[in-house]
Amino acid sequence: MEKLVVHGGNPLNGTIEVSGAKNAAVAIIPAAIMASSGVSNIDNIPDIEDVRCLERILESLGCKIKRCNNSAVIDSTCMTSVDACTDDVRKMRASYYLIGAMLGRFKEAKVELPGGCSIGVRPIDQHIKGFEALGAEVKIEHGAVCVKAEKLVGANIFFDVVSVGATINVMLAAALAEGTTILENVAREPHVVDVANFLNTMGANIKGAGTDVIRITGVKELHGCDYSVIPDQIEAGTFMIAAAACGGRVKIDNIIPKHLESITAKLIEMGAEVIEDEDSITVVSKGRLKAVNVKTLPYPGFPTDVQQPMSALLCIAEGRSIINESIWECRYKHVDELKKMGADIKVEGRSAIIDGVSKLTGAVVKATDLRAGAAMVIAGLIAEGVSEIHNLDHIDRGYPKIEEKFRVLGAHIDRVEE
Ligand code: EPU
Repeated sequence: MEKLVVHGGNPLNGTIEVSGAKNAAVAIIPAAIMASSGVSNIDNIPDIEDVRCLERILESLGCKIKRCNNSAVIDSTCMTSVDACTDDVRKMRASYYLIGAMLGRFKEAKVELPGGCSIGVRPIDQHIKGFEALGAEVKIEHGAVCVKAEKLVGANIFFDVVSVGATINVMLAAALAEGTTILENVAREPHVVDVANFLNTMGANIKGAGTDVIRITGVKELHGCDYSVIPDQIEAGTFMIAAAACGGRVKIDNIIPKHLESITAKLIEMGAEVIEDEDSITVVSKGRLKAVNVKTLPYPGFPTDVQQPMSALLCIAEGRSIINESIWECRYKHVDELKKMGADIKVEGRSAIIDGVSKLTGAVVKATDLRAGAAMVIAGLIAEGVSEIHNLDHIDRGYPKIEEKFRVLGAHIDRVEE
Protein backbone atom coordinates (compact mmCIF):
# COMPACT_ATOMS: atom_id res chain seq x y z
CA MET A 1 0.00 0.00 0.00
CA GLU A 2 1.22 3.47 -0.82
CA LYS A 3 0.51 6.86 0.66
CA LEU A 4 1.27 10.45 -0.29
CA VAL A 5 3.33 12.52 2.11
CA VAL A 6 2.82 16.23 1.61
CA HIS A 7 4.83 19.04 3.20
CA GLY A 8 2.42 21.93 2.80
CA GLY A 9 2.67 25.67 2.75
CA ASN A 10 4.62 26.29 -0.46
CA PRO A 11 3.35 28.38 -3.37
CA LEU A 12 3.05 26.66 -6.75
CA ASN A 13 4.89 28.04 -9.75
CA GLY A 14 5.51 26.76 -13.27
CA THR A 15 3.69 24.97 -16.07
CA ILE A 16 1.87 21.64 -16.11
CA GLU A 17 0.54 19.66 -19.05
CA VAL A 18 -2.98 18.36 -18.69
CA SER A 19 -3.56 14.75 -19.81
CA GLY A 20 -6.37 13.39 -21.96
CA ALA A 21 -9.85 13.45 -20.43
CA LYS A 22 -10.64 10.45 -18.23
CA ASN A 23 -14.37 10.58 -18.81
CA ALA A 24 -13.91 10.85 -22.59
CA ALA A 25 -11.28 8.09 -22.76
CA VAL A 26 -13.35 5.66 -20.70
CA ALA A 27 -16.18 6.01 -23.22
CA ILE A 28 -14.05 6.12 -26.37
CA ILE A 29 -12.19 2.89 -25.52
CA PRO A 30 -15.43 0.84 -25.26
CA ALA A 31 -16.74 2.67 -28.36
CA ALA A 32 -13.70 1.41 -30.27
CA ILE A 33 -15.09 -2.14 -30.10
CA MET A 34 -17.86 -1.03 -32.46
CA ALA A 35 -15.43 -1.12 -35.41
CA SER A 36 -16.05 -4.25 -37.47
CA SER A 37 -13.14 -3.42 -39.79
CA GLY A 38 -9.78 -1.73 -39.35
CA VAL A 39 -8.06 -0.75 -36.12
CA SER A 40 -8.46 2.39 -34.01
CA ASN A 41 -5.38 4.37 -33.11
CA ILE A 42 -6.32 6.51 -30.13
CA ASP A 43 -3.95 9.16 -28.84
CA ASN A 44 -3.84 11.34 -25.67
CA ILE A 45 -5.13 8.55 -23.43
CA PRO A 46 -4.51 9.30 -19.74
CA ASP A 47 -2.31 6.87 -17.82
CA ILE A 48 -4.85 5.98 -15.12
CA GLU A 49 -6.15 2.80 -13.53
CA ASP A 50 -9.66 3.14 -15.04
CA VAL A 51 -8.10 3.02 -18.52
CA ARG A 52 -5.91 0.01 -17.65
CA CYS A 53 -8.99 -1.70 -16.23
CA LEU A 54 -10.96 -1.12 -19.46
CA GLU A 55 -8.08 -2.38 -21.57
CA ARG A 56 -8.03 -5.62 -19.57
CA ILE A 57 -11.80 -5.95 -20.07
CA LEU A 58 -11.47 -5.46 -23.84
CA GLU A 59 -8.71 -8.08 -23.96
CA SER A 60 -10.96 -10.49 -22.06
CA LEU A 61 -13.52 -10.02 -24.86
CA GLY A 62 -10.94 -10.96 -27.50
CA CYS A 63 -9.76 -7.50 -28.63
CA LYS A 64 -6.06 -6.91 -29.28
CA ILE A 65 -4.56 -3.79 -27.71
CA LYS A 66 -1.08 -2.36 -28.22
CA ARG A 67 -0.21 0.39 -25.77
CA CYS A 68 2.62 2.86 -26.39
CA ASN A 69 2.99 5.90 -24.11
CA ASN A 70 -0.30 7.81 -24.39
CA SER A 71 -1.58 5.91 -27.43
CA ALA A 72 -3.41 2.66 -27.88
CA VAL A 73 -4.09 0.69 -31.03
CA ILE A 74 -7.31 -1.29 -30.57
CA ASP A 75 -8.21 -4.12 -32.91
CA SER A 76 -11.76 -5.26 -32.22
CA THR A 77 -12.25 -7.21 -35.46
CA CYS A 78 -11.28 -10.38 -33.61
CA MET A 79 -13.75 -10.01 -30.70
CA THR A 80 -14.92 -13.41 -29.46
CA SER A 81 -17.30 -12.63 -26.61
CA VAL A 82 -20.12 -10.27 -25.63
CA ASP A 83 -20.03 -11.42 -22.02
CA ALA A 84 -18.30 -8.88 -19.76
CA CYS A 85 -18.58 -10.23 -16.25
CA THR A 86 -15.23 -9.86 -14.49
CA ASP A 87 -13.93 -8.15 -11.36
CA ASP A 88 -12.64 -5.31 -13.54
CA VAL A 89 -16.16 -4.65 -14.89
CA ARG A 90 -17.54 -4.43 -11.35
CA LYS A 91 -14.76 -2.07 -10.23
CA MET A 92 -15.49 0.86 -12.51
CA ARG A 93 -18.42 2.95 -13.62
CA ALA A 94 -17.67 3.37 -17.30
CA SER A 95 -17.80 -0.38 -17.98
CA TYR A 96 -21.51 0.30 -18.64
CA TYR A 97 -20.52 1.77 -22.01
CA LEU A 98 -19.82 -1.80 -23.12
CA ILE A 99 -23.58 -2.37 -23.06
CA GLY A 100 -24.34 0.30 -25.67
CA ALA A 101 -21.26 -0.53 -27.74
CA MET A 102 -21.90 -4.32 -27.90
CA LEU A 103 -25.65 -3.88 -28.33
CA GLY A 104 -24.93 -1.62 -31.33
CA ARG A 105 -22.49 -3.95 -33.02
CA PHE A 106 -23.63 -7.45 -31.99
CA LYS A 107 -27.24 -6.72 -30.94
CA GLU A 108 -26.55 -8.38 -27.62
CA ALA A 109 -24.43 -7.97 -24.49
CA LYS A 110 -24.10 -9.22 -20.96
CA VAL A 111 -22.33 -6.77 -18.68
CA GLU A 112 -22.01 -6.96 -14.92
CA LEU A 113 -23.54 -3.94 -13.14
CA PRO A 114 -20.91 -1.21 -12.79
CA GLY A 115 -19.12 0.05 -9.67
CA GLY A 116 -17.23 3.37 -9.39
CA CYS A 117 -17.09 6.07 -6.73
CA SER A 118 -19.60 5.83 -3.91
CA ILE A 119 -21.20 9.26 -4.24
CA GLY A 120 -24.90 8.43 -4.00
CA VAL A 121 -27.44 6.27 -5.78
CA ARG A 122 -26.28 5.71 -9.35
CA PRO A 123 -29.24 4.27 -11.26
CA ILE A 124 -29.08 3.30 -14.95
CA ASP A 125 -32.81 3.49 -15.64
CA GLN A 126 -32.31 6.13 -18.35
CA HIS A 127 -29.78 3.92 -20.16
CA ILE A 128 -32.30 1.06 -20.05
CA LYS A 129 -35.15 3.30 -21.19
CA GLY A 130 -33.06 4.30 -24.23
CA PHE A 131 -32.06 0.74 -25.15
CA GLU A 132 -35.67 -0.44 -24.86
CA ALA A 133 -36.88 2.45 -27.04
CA LEU A 134 -34.44 1.25 -29.73
CA GLY A 135 -36.07 -2.20 -29.58
CA ALA A 136 -33.81 -4.10 -27.17
CA GLU A 137 -35.04 -6.43 -24.47
CA VAL A 138 -33.26 -5.60 -21.21
CA LYS A 139 -33.09 -7.86 -18.17
CA ILE A 140 -31.08 -7.65 -14.97
CA GLU A 141 -30.01 -11.20 -14.06
CA HIS A 142 -27.55 -12.30 -11.37
CA GLY A 143 -26.15 -8.77 -11.10
CA ALA A 144 -25.61 -8.35 -14.83
CA VAL A 145 -27.40 -6.29 -17.48
CA CYS A 146 -28.45 -8.58 -20.34
CA VAL A 147 -29.57 -6.85 -23.54
CA LYS A 148 -30.69 -8.42 -26.80
CA ALA A 149 -32.42 -7.20 -29.94
CA GLU A 150 -33.49 -8.76 -33.24
CA LYS A 151 -32.66 -5.39 -34.70
CA LEU A 152 -32.33 -1.85 -33.38
CA VAL A 153 -34.63 0.79 -34.85
CA GLY A 154 -34.18 4.55 -34.39
CA ALA A 155 -36.58 6.28 -31.98
CA ASN A 156 -37.35 9.61 -30.31
CA ILE A 157 -36.11 9.47 -26.71
CA PHE A 158 -36.61 12.21 -24.13
CA PHE A 159 -34.42 11.61 -21.07
CA ASP A 160 -36.06 12.29 -17.68
CA VAL A 161 -32.76 13.51 -16.21
CA VAL A 162 -29.70 14.99 -17.86
CA SER A 163 -27.28 12.07 -17.74
CA VAL A 164 -23.80 11.90 -19.23
CA GLY A 165 -23.76 8.11 -19.10
CA ALA A 166 -27.22 7.57 -20.61
CA THR A 167 -26.59 10.11 -23.38
CA ILE A 168 -23.34 8.42 -24.43
CA ASN A 169 -24.56 4.85 -23.98
CA VAL A 170 -27.74 5.27 -26.03
CA MET A 171 -25.80 7.28 -28.64
CA LEU A 172 -23.43 4.30 -29.03
CA ALA A 173 -26.24 1.82 -29.67
CA ALA A 174 -28.19 4.22 -31.91
CA ALA A 175 -25.14 4.83 -34.14
CA LEU A 176 -25.70 1.31 -35.55
CA ALA A 177 -29.54 1.27 -35.42
CA GLU A 178 -31.75 1.39 -38.52
CA GLY A 179 -33.11 4.89 -39.24
CA THR A 180 -32.96 8.05 -37.18
CA THR A 181 -32.78 8.47 -33.43
CA ILE A 182 -33.44 11.80 -31.75
CA LEU A 183 -32.19 12.13 -28.19
CA GLU A 184 -33.61 15.06 -26.20
CA ASN A 185 -32.65 16.57 -22.84
CA VAL A 186 -29.15 15.16 -23.29
CA ALA A 187 -25.94 16.02 -21.46
CA ARG A 188 -23.74 18.64 -23.17
CA GLU A 189 -20.44 17.82 -21.44
CA PRO A 190 -17.27 18.15 -23.58
CA HIS A 191 -16.75 14.38 -23.35
CA VAL A 192 -20.21 13.75 -24.90
CA VAL A 193 -19.06 15.82 -27.89
CA ASP A 194 -15.73 14.00 -27.95
CA VAL A 195 -17.40 10.58 -28.11
CA ALA A 196 -19.73 11.79 -30.90
CA ASN A 197 -16.71 13.10 -32.84
CA PHE A 198 -14.94 9.77 -32.36
CA LEU A 199 -17.98 7.83 -33.62
CA ASN A 200 -18.29 10.18 -36.62
CA THR A 201 -14.62 9.56 -37.43
CA MET A 202 -15.50 5.83 -37.35
CA GLY A 203 -18.21 6.46 -39.96
CA ALA A 204 -21.24 7.30 -37.79
CA ASN A 205 -23.66 10.13 -38.58
CA ILE A 206 -24.28 12.09 -35.37
CA LYS A 207 -25.27 15.74 -35.26
CA GLY A 208 -26.00 18.13 -32.41
CA ALA A 209 -23.66 16.81 -29.70
CA GLY A 210 -22.95 19.74 -27.38
CA THR A 211 -26.57 20.99 -27.65
CA ASP A 212 -29.49 19.43 -25.81
CA VAL A 213 -30.77 17.51 -28.85
CA ILE A 214 -28.68 14.87 -30.63
CA ARG A 215 -29.80 13.46 -34.00
CA ILE A 216 -28.29 10.14 -35.02
CA THR A 217 -28.78 8.61 -38.45
CA GLY A 218 -27.87 4.96 -38.07
CA VAL A 219 -25.22 3.45 -40.35
CA LYS A 220 -24.64 -0.22 -41.21
CA GLU A 221 -21.12 -0.50 -39.84
CA LEU A 222 -18.26 1.43 -38.29
CA HIS A 223 -14.55 1.20 -39.01
CA GLY A 224 -11.37 1.87 -37.07
CA CYS A 225 -9.92 5.40 -37.18
CA ASP A 226 -7.21 7.70 -35.80
CA TYR A 227 -8.35 9.93 -32.97
CA SER A 228 -6.99 12.08 -30.16
CA VAL A 229 -8.88 12.42 -26.85
CA ILE A 230 -9.67 15.98 -25.65
CA PRO A 231 -7.79 17.42 -22.65
CA ASP A 232 -9.20 16.68 -19.20
CA GLN A 233 -11.44 19.52 -18.05
CA ILE A 234 -11.57 18.14 -14.51
CA GLU A 235 -7.82 17.60 -14.11
CA ALA A 236 -7.29 21.15 -15.44
CA GLY A 237 -9.87 22.53 -13.01
CA THR A 238 -8.19 20.69 -10.14
CA PHE A 239 -4.82 22.32 -10.94
CA MET A 240 -6.44 25.75 -11.36
CA ILE A 241 -7.96 25.44 -7.90
CA ALA A 242 -4.70 24.17 -6.40
CA ALA A 243 -2.87 27.18 -7.83
CA ALA A 244 -5.49 29.54 -6.42
CA ALA A 245 -5.30 27.81 -3.03
CA CYS A 246 -1.51 27.68 -2.67
CA GLY A 247 -0.70 31.03 -4.25
CA GLY A 248 1.87 31.54 -6.98
CA ARG A 249 1.61 31.51 -10.77
CA VAL A 250 0.69 28.32 -12.61
CA LYS A 251 0.19 27.84 -16.34
CA ILE A 252 -2.12 24.95 -17.12
CA ASP A 253 -1.25 23.86 -20.63
CA ASN A 254 -2.85 21.67 -23.31
CA ILE A 255 -6.44 22.55 -22.43
CA ILE A 256 -9.56 24.02 -24.03
CA PRO A 257 -10.22 27.19 -21.95
CA LYS A 258 -13.90 27.28 -23.05
CA HIS A 259 -14.48 24.01 -21.12
CA LEU A 260 -13.30 25.71 -17.92
CA GLU A 261 -15.39 28.89 -18.01
CA SER A 262 -17.46 28.11 -14.91
CA ILE A 263 -14.30 27.47 -12.85
CA THR A 264 -12.50 30.50 -14.27
CA ALA A 265 -15.50 32.69 -13.35
CA LYS A 266 -15.53 31.42 -9.74
CA LEU A 267 -11.80 31.95 -9.25
CA ILE A 268 -12.06 35.50 -10.60
CA GLU A 269 -15.04 36.11 -8.28
CA MET A 270 -12.80 34.96 -5.40
CA GLY A 271 -10.11 37.48 -6.36
CA ALA A 272 -7.61 35.33 -8.29
CA GLU A 273 -6.23 36.45 -11.64
CA VAL A 274 -6.99 34.06 -14.49
CA ILE A 275 -5.35 34.65 -17.87
CA GLU A 276 -6.77 32.70 -20.81
CA ASP A 277 -4.74 31.89 -23.89
CA GLU A 278 -5.56 29.77 -26.92
CA ASP A 279 -4.77 26.43 -25.28
CA SER A 280 -3.70 27.36 -21.76
CA ILE A 281 -4.87 29.15 -18.66
CA THR A 282 -2.60 30.85 -16.14
CA VAL A 283 -3.80 31.28 -12.58
CA VAL A 284 -2.12 33.92 -10.43
CA SER A 285 -3.04 34.09 -6.79
CA LYS A 286 -1.67 36.40 -4.13
CA GLY A 287 -2.99 36.55 -0.59
CA ARG A 288 -6.24 35.21 0.81
CA LEU A 289 -9.17 34.79 -1.58
CA LYS A 290 -12.81 35.67 -0.86
CA ALA A 291 -15.55 33.12 -0.07
CA VAL A 292 -18.07 32.30 -2.84
CA ASN A 293 -21.17 30.18 -3.28
CA VAL A 294 -21.04 27.26 -5.68
CA LYS A 295 -23.88 25.20 -7.17
CA THR A 296 -22.95 22.16 -9.20
CA LEU A 297 -24.87 21.72 -12.44
CA PRO A 298 -24.62 19.82 -15.73
CA TYR A 299 -22.27 21.47 -18.26
CA PRO A 300 -21.83 24.39 -18.83
CA GLY A 301 -22.54 24.83 -15.11
CA PHE A 302 -19.97 24.27 -12.37
CA PRO A 303 -18.90 20.58 -12.61
CA THR A 304 -19.73 18.29 -9.72
CA ASP A 305 -16.37 16.59 -10.29
CA VAL A 306 -14.58 19.80 -9.26
CA GLN A 307 -16.81 20.45 -6.25
CA GLN A 308 -14.61 18.50 -3.81
CA PRO A 309 -11.29 20.12 -4.87
CA MET A 310 -13.09 23.50 -4.72
CA SER A 311 -14.25 22.82 -1.18
CA ALA A 312 -10.60 22.46 -0.08
CA LEU A 313 -9.89 25.96 -1.42
CA LEU A 314 -13.03 27.39 0.21
CA CYS A 315 -11.82 26.09 3.61
CA ILE A 316 -9.24 28.89 3.70
CA ALA A 317 -11.22 31.61 1.89
CA GLU A 318 -12.22 34.72 3.80
CA GLY A 319 -15.87 34.47 4.89
CA ARG A 320 -18.65 31.92 4.49
CA SER A 321 -19.12 29.84 1.34
CA ILE A 322 -22.10 27.64 0.60
CA ILE A 323 -21.84 24.71 -1.77
CA ASN A 324 -24.96 23.17 -3.23
CA GLU A 325 -24.37 19.75 -4.79
CA SER A 326 -27.25 19.22 -7.19
CA ILE A 327 -25.98 16.15 -9.09
CA TRP A 328 -24.95 13.58 -6.45
CA GLU A 329 -26.68 13.07 -3.12
CA CYS A 330 -23.60 11.94 -1.21
CA ARG A 331 -20.53 13.82 -2.40
CA TYR A 332 -19.32 15.21 0.93
CA LYS A 333 -17.49 12.19 2.34
CA HIS A 334 -14.25 14.19 2.23
CA VAL A 335 -15.61 16.75 4.68
CA ASP A 336 -14.73 14.70 7.76
CA GLU A 337 -11.18 14.39 6.43
CA LEU A 338 -10.94 18.16 5.86
CA LYS A 339 -12.18 18.72 9.41
CA LYS A 340 -9.21 16.70 10.71
CA MET A 341 -7.07 19.44 9.18
CA GLY A 342 -8.97 22.21 10.98
CA ALA A 343 -11.64 23.06 8.40
CA ASP A 344 -14.95 24.48 9.63
CA ILE A 345 -17.65 22.80 7.52
CA LYS A 346 -21.23 21.79 8.22
CA VAL A 347 -23.10 19.52 5.85
CA GLU A 348 -26.87 19.91 5.69
CA GLY A 349 -28.43 17.63 3.10
CA ARG A 350 -27.13 18.65 -0.31
CA SER A 351 -25.41 21.79 1.07
CA ALA A 352 -22.06 22.35 2.73
CA ILE A 353 -21.56 25.53 4.71
CA ILE A 354 -17.89 26.42 4.91
CA ASP A 355 -16.61 29.11 7.25
CA GLY A 356 -13.14 29.98 6.06
CA VAL A 357 -10.28 29.51 8.55
CA SER A 358 -6.93 31.27 8.29
CA LYS A 359 -4.99 28.02 7.95
CA LEU A 360 -5.29 24.23 7.72
CA THR A 361 -2.86 21.98 9.59
CA GLY A 362 -1.32 18.75 8.33
CA ALA A 363 -2.99 15.47 9.37
CA VAL A 364 -3.32 11.81 8.44
CA VAL A 365 -6.29 11.59 6.09
CA LYS A 366 -7.71 9.34 3.39
CA ALA A 367 -9.15 9.65 -0.09
CA THR A 368 -12.77 8.54 0.27
CA ASP A 369 -13.33 8.64 -3.51
CA LEU A 370 -11.57 9.94 -6.61
CA ARG A 371 -12.26 13.69 -6.44
CA ALA A 372 -12.20 13.59 -2.65
CA GLY A 373 -8.62 12.38 -3.05
CA ALA A 374 -7.78 15.42 -5.17
CA ALA A 375 -9.36 17.62 -2.50
CA MET A 376 -7.11 16.04 0.15
CA VAL A 377 -4.02 16.62 -1.98
CA ILE A 378 -4.93 20.31 -2.32
CA ALA A 379 -5.67 20.53 1.41
CA GLY A 380 -2.29 18.93 2.16
CA LEU A 381 -0.53 21.43 -0.11
CA ILE A 382 -2.22 24.34 1.68
CA ALA A 383 -1.76 23.02 5.21
CA GLU A 384 0.94 23.97 7.65
CA GLY A 385 3.10 20.92 8.41
CA VAL A 386 3.01 17.37 7.09
CA SER A 387 -0.04 15.46 5.81
CA GLU A 388 -0.35 11.82 4.88
CA ILE A 389 -2.98 10.79 2.35
CA HIS A 390 -4.04 7.14 2.28
CA ASN A 391 -6.27 5.06 -0.05
CA LEU A 392 -4.48 6.23 -3.17
CA ASP A 393 -6.22 3.65 -5.34
CA HIS A 394 -9.11 6.13 -5.60
CA ILE A 395 -6.83 8.92 -6.85
CA ASP A 396 -4.96 6.63 -9.25
CA ARG A 397 -8.22 5.67 -10.94
CA GLY A 398 -8.51 9.16 -12.42
CA TYR A 399 -5.43 11.40 -12.00
CA PRO A 400 -2.29 10.43 -13.94
CA LYS A 401 0.87 10.79 -11.80
CA ILE A 402 -0.67 13.44 -9.58
CA GLU A 403 2.36 13.79 -7.30
CA GLU A 404 4.78 14.12 -10.24
CA LYS A 405 2.70 16.89 -11.79
CA PHE A 406 2.55 18.80 -8.49
CA ARG A 407 6.30 18.34 -7.97
CA VAL A 408 6.91 20.09 -11.32
CA LEU A 409 5.18 23.08 -9.74
CA GLY A 410 7.48 23.03 -6.70
CA ALA A 411 5.23 21.07 -4.33
CA HIS A 412 6.84 18.85 -1.70
CA ILE A 413 4.87 15.67 -2.25
CA ASP A 414 6.11 12.09 -2.35
CA ARG A 415 4.58 8.68 -2.85
CA VAL A 416 5.96 6.23 -0.32
CA GLU A 417 5.25 2.64 0.70
CA GLU A 418 3.24 2.50 3.90
N1 EPU B 1 -29.23 9.38 -13.25
C1 EPU B 1 -30.46 8.75 -13.17
N2 EPU B 1 -30.69 7.69 -14.02
C2 EPU B 1 -29.78 7.26 -14.93
C3 EPU B 1 -28.53 7.91 -15.00
C4 EPU B 1 -28.29 8.97 -14.15
O1 EPU B 1 -31.30 9.12 -12.37
O2 EPU B 1 -30.07 6.31 -15.67
C5 EPU B 1 -28.96 10.52 -12.36
C6 EPU B 1 -27.80 10.23 -11.39
O3 EPU B 1 -28.24 9.58 -10.24
C7 EPU B 1 -27.27 11.63 -11.14
C8 EPU B 1 -27.52 12.37 -12.46
O4 EPU B 1 -28.51 11.61 -13.16
O5 EPU B 1 -28.00 12.24 -10.13
C9 EPU B 1 -26.31 12.53 -13.35
O6 EPU B 1 -25.71 11.26 -13.56
P1 EPU B 1 -24.87 10.93 -14.86
O7 EPU B 1 -25.51 9.78 -15.54
O8 EPU B 1 -24.62 12.18 -15.64
O9 EPU B 1 -23.51 10.42 -14.23
P2 EPU B 1 -22.58 9.26 -14.75
O10 EPU B 1 -22.67 9.18 -16.23
O11 EPU B 1 -22.79 8.04 -13.95
C10 EPU B 1 -20.53 10.79 -15.22
C11 EPU B 1 -19.10 10.82 -14.77
C12 EPU B 1 -19.05 11.29 -13.32
C13 EPU B 1 -19.71 12.66 -13.21
C14 EPU B 1 -21.14 12.61 -13.78
C15 EPU B 1 -21.79 13.97 -13.84
C16 EPU B 1 -18.10 9.06 -16.04
C17 EPU B 1 -17.51 7.71 -16.08
N3 EPU B 1 -18.54 9.50 -14.87
O12 EPU B 1 -21.17 9.84 -14.37
O13 EPU B 1 -17.67 11.41 -13.02
O14 EPU B 1 -19.78 13.05 -11.86
O15 EPU B 1 -21.09 12.08 -15.13
O16 EPU B 1 -21.05 14.87 -14.60
O17 EPU B 1 -18.15 9.75 -17.05
C18 EPU B 1 -15.76 11.43 -11.69
O18 EPU B 1 -15.09 11.54 -12.74
O19 EPU B 1 -15.25 11.58 -10.55
C19 EPU B 1 -17.18 11.11 -11.79
C20 EPU B 1 -17.89 10.64 -10.78
